[in-house]
Amino acid sequence: MSSTLNAGTTNCSRAGNIRLLTTGRIRVALYGIGLAPAAWSFFLGATNSLGADPVRSFEDLLGVWALRFLILGLLVTPLRKLAGVNLLSYRRALGLLAFWYAAMHFATYAFLDRGLDLPVILADVTKRPFLIIGMVALLILAALAATSNRVSIRRLGRGWMRLHRLVYPAVALGAVHFVMSVKSWPLEPLVYAGVVSVLLSYRVLAPFLRSRLPRRARA
Ligand code: HEM
Repeated sequence: MSSTLNAGTTNCSRAGNIRLLTTGRIRVALYGIGLAPAAWSFFLGATNSLGADPVRSFEDLLGVWALRFLILGLLVTPLRKLAGVNLLSYRRALGLLAFWYAAMHFATYAFLDRGLDLPVILADVTKRPFLIIGMVALLILAALAATSNRVSIRRLGRGWMRLHRLVYPAVALGAVHFVMSVKSWPLEPLVYAGVVSVLLSYRVLAPFLRSRLPRRARA
């Protein structure tokens, strides 16, 4: 009897280990694939194949990918709740990728666009509204990235959840920054702003709608 129980426990822990190993490998692949657009356009830039304004193209690409990863992170909960697809194990990687893209976007702006001219950068990020908005979004993402580890989760307790809810204003600010960065009204930033609005509305409305559903429909 006890040997059957032991065998069952060993099989369970082996299955758990295999699942952990697979999740870990997928996560490593996600980081690799996620950083590929930055590496590829850096290569294109370095080989003079990134168009007439390579710095601007590189800067824009990094900004757009930061927003894409923020949106992918926001999709995790509705995918689980509405379609039963559980990608929770990859949400941290998506958030970190978003932060690294936003940080590289800022570094490209500061080093390559502005030649690390600190007075000019300081004037820019304190006077131009779309840059102030981008800067606030980046600072929020930096705080979230710095606390997205087990030690911070343990230390901050309930405060960790409250802090990490700041990802919602960060995504909204990222989308507004995109809309404000363009002079005319092209479709792309409006599409991103629309997707972000739908996902943020879902986050706000879902608990309210759930509380109004009869108990059986909620299960
Ligand atoms: C979470 C933070 C941020 C996100 C998600 C983000 C995203 C974007 C996006 C999507 C664009 C438009 C790209 C395009 O036109 O295709 C953009 C443009 C731009 N961003 Fe950001 N950004 C962020 C933070 C910042 C910060 C902190 C700065 C600098 C202080 C900055 C500087 C710029 C500049 C200068 C442009 C215009 C580039 C151009 O003229 O084409 N961004 N950003």
